[in-house]
Amino acid sequence: MSGPRILAIESSCDETAAAVVRGFEVESSVVASQVEVHARFGGVVPELASRHHLGAVVPVVRGALRIAGADLSSIDALGVTAGPGLVGALLVGVQMARGLAAVTGLPLFGVHHMEGHIASAFLGDTVDGVRRAPEPFAPHVALLVSGGHTELVRVDGFGQYEILGATRDDAAGEAYDKVAKLLGLGYPGGPVIDRLAAEGNPDAIAFPRAMLTKKHNFEFSFSGLKTAVLVHTERNGMPRSRVELADICASFQAAVVDVLTRKARRACRALGVSRLHVVGGVSANRGLRARLEQVAIRDGLTLRVPPLRYCGDNAAMIGAAAAARMLAGAPPVVELHTSRAIDDPRIRLTGESS
Ligand code: KG4
Ligand code: ZN
Repeated sequence: MSGPRILAIESSCDETAAAVVRGFEVESSVVASQVEVHARFGGVVPELASRHHLGAVVPVVRGALRIAGADLSSIDALGVTAGPGLVGALLVGVQMARGLAAVTGLPLFGVHHMEGHIASAFLGDTVDGVRRAPEPFAPHVALLVSGGHTELVRVDGFGQYEILGATRDDAAGEAYDKVAKLLGLGYPGGPVIDRLAAEGNPDAIAFPRAMLTKKHNFEFSFSGLKTAVLVHTERNGMPRSRVELADICASFQAAVVDVLTRKARRACRALGVSRLHVVGGVSANRGLRARLEQVAIRDGLTLRVPPLRYCGDNAAMIGAAAAARMLAGAPPVVELHTSRAIDDPRIRLTGESS
């Protein structure tokens, strides 16, 4: 037995997701993406996101149960993302989960979205026919890189988080999305810039690497980099060829990857921690993953990044975090935490109020 069987729901932004997990082992993970809905607006439109979650949430939950071969009577508990995120979007998942809890009597655990991403590095499944053994929640430094967050967090155990540094302005994923918009590449920006960067010269343009001078500063800033790309296009005009475009993307990505990797290494060194986990949507980035692997070998770090399917938003990570909360004896409560940081005392395993 590898933990309680959890049905989990995630709806914090533009993905409606449901999953069935046993502890950290994934039995099903269904994600209905709204990317096409928001693409034409160049970013997520909150009202549209809520409406599409309303339409998708029931089929997605049914799909997750069906794929896992589960029915509600075989589930031990429910999990749901309780924030941070878009309030209207979150409420769709939260109210669905509350409804299920009311009719089944199952305990319902609210999960902080970023705690879900932290849990994603531990997920195991049999999707490829290969079982990845779920590991215990070992102490590590987590680099959380998504559309809304860029943070270095010291993780001493489940529920024990200390933020070492966060972004002062844009998150890394947000910088990708804004630069893509500026270059006319659509939304979301990460995957398309990542693809173009692979064709370009990362040394073509010397874009700035912010906040690298102080050794023990683990904060980030990406808005200057975004402005530097804008200034470059104002001075030189918009790229006239695919080569020029690829060079801008490669040089931008090199700056992001450089800063993220260097700060993560420094944090591991300063804390004397040899495990580095990189999670969140941006952890799917090929350039970042390749560079991290090099650094891990050079510095003797144990690197963990989730499989690509669990980098972006999904409910399997929320289920795993809910399972861990349940096993740790946390009370089953759902408290919306839209802007609360992950090291807030109220996120800890005890002392929450409903
Ligand atoms: O974790 P996530 O799915 O949602 C949030 O919690 O924000 O992250 C979404 C972000 C978006 O900004 C998207 O552009 C970025 O992750 N992203 C990437 C890549 N794939 C997604 N950024 C860089 N390279 C990628 N391959
Ligand atoms: Zn996320």
